[in-house]
Amino acid sequence: MRGFPALIGRSIFRSSSHDLRSTHPTAAVAAAPPLLRRIGSRRALIIQTLSGPVRIERLSDSDSGIIELKLDRPEAKNAIGKEMLRGLQNAIETIGNDSSANVVVVSSSVPKVFCAGADLKERKLMSASEVQQFVNSLRSTFSSLEALSVPTVAVIEGAALGGGLEMALSCDLRVCGEESTFSLPETGLAIIPGAGGTQRLPRIVGRSAAKELIFTGRRISGKEAVSMGLVNYCVPAGEAHHKALQIARDINQKGPLAIRMAKQAINKGLEVDMPSALDAEEECYDQLLETQDRLEGLAAFAEKRKPSYLGK
Ligand code: COA
Repeated sequence: MRGFPALIGRSIFRSSSHDLRSTHPTAAVAAAPPLLRRIGSRRALIIQTLSGPVRIERLSDSDSGIIELKLDRPEAKNAIGKEMLRGLQNAIETIGNDSSANVVVVSSSVPKVFCAGADLKERKLMSASEVQQFVNSLRSTFSSLEALSVPTVAVIEGAALGGGLEMALSCDLRVCGEESTFSLPETGLAIIPGAGGTQRLPRIVGRSAAKELIFTGRRISGKEAVSMGLVNYCVPAGEAHHKALQIARDINQKGPLAIRMAKQAINKGLEVDMPSALDAEEECYDQLLETQDRLEGLAAFAEKRKPSYLGK
């Protein structure tokens, strides 16, 4: 992934492509040639948009609708400092404004690490109020990641520590390689996970397992992570991205509005009592009744062909 054509500035967008039906409103427009890369068993055209420590790539052709968000700060093992945080915010905002996005794959371009968490070197130079501001901002950034209307899949190969694990917890699904390690080591630094970790981890693995991991800061392996439900799949080292892409491609074939409504119904419903949750489901279902895609699904079934969904 390294060695892509260098792009100037932090927010660089290409125009005049059917892959960019919607772009960041304040974005500068610059021409950059599309890149061809092998993605799994297929070759895919990649339109690179954001540059810097957080990049966005839009896949095209049959993978159009899949967006890759890549962490790329090798010198600090993807530790999240102020620049990385701004990059994440830009990327999430850009994806949120992109009506062509159907699914997001979040991964690292840096070998053997997903993300080493907060930038502890930068942190050492901050005052208490700067730390407070930074952590609040990181927390709300991960909340925006979680709130994206489309599914997100985190790909973990290597270490996902502290804020790095909290970022993965903010995604809908997680896939890891067998050599991955996971930990929330904050209590060892005399702080607590502050970007959603104390809340999202127990909701995913249960309160008892979460308490043990947070109180001890213990590092766990990919195999243990899958056994406690922290990740959806643990695959041989190096194969997590491929597995995540398979999942993304499956999702990308489905009715795009249905996927958004399914995510919304699940997320809203889990926060409220059952009758209100079923109301949330009804509200989401109702939004699909008048869609072209719903009729296309029925027509395709009757005609024994694959449906062709437009997201309308
Ligand atoms: N903040 C700032 N810099 C970090 C960092 C972090 N969270 N994690 C790693 N780095 C830096 C290292 O200081 C080192 O910089 P240097 O070359 O100037 O010494 C560089 O990244 C490479 O790290 P290194 O430890 O040599 O790599 P490794 O492959 O042996 O181990 C990790 C990688 C991520 C497992 C290890 O660096 C680590 O445990 N980091 C701390 C993570 C942590 O505690 N995060 C929780 C924050 S609450």
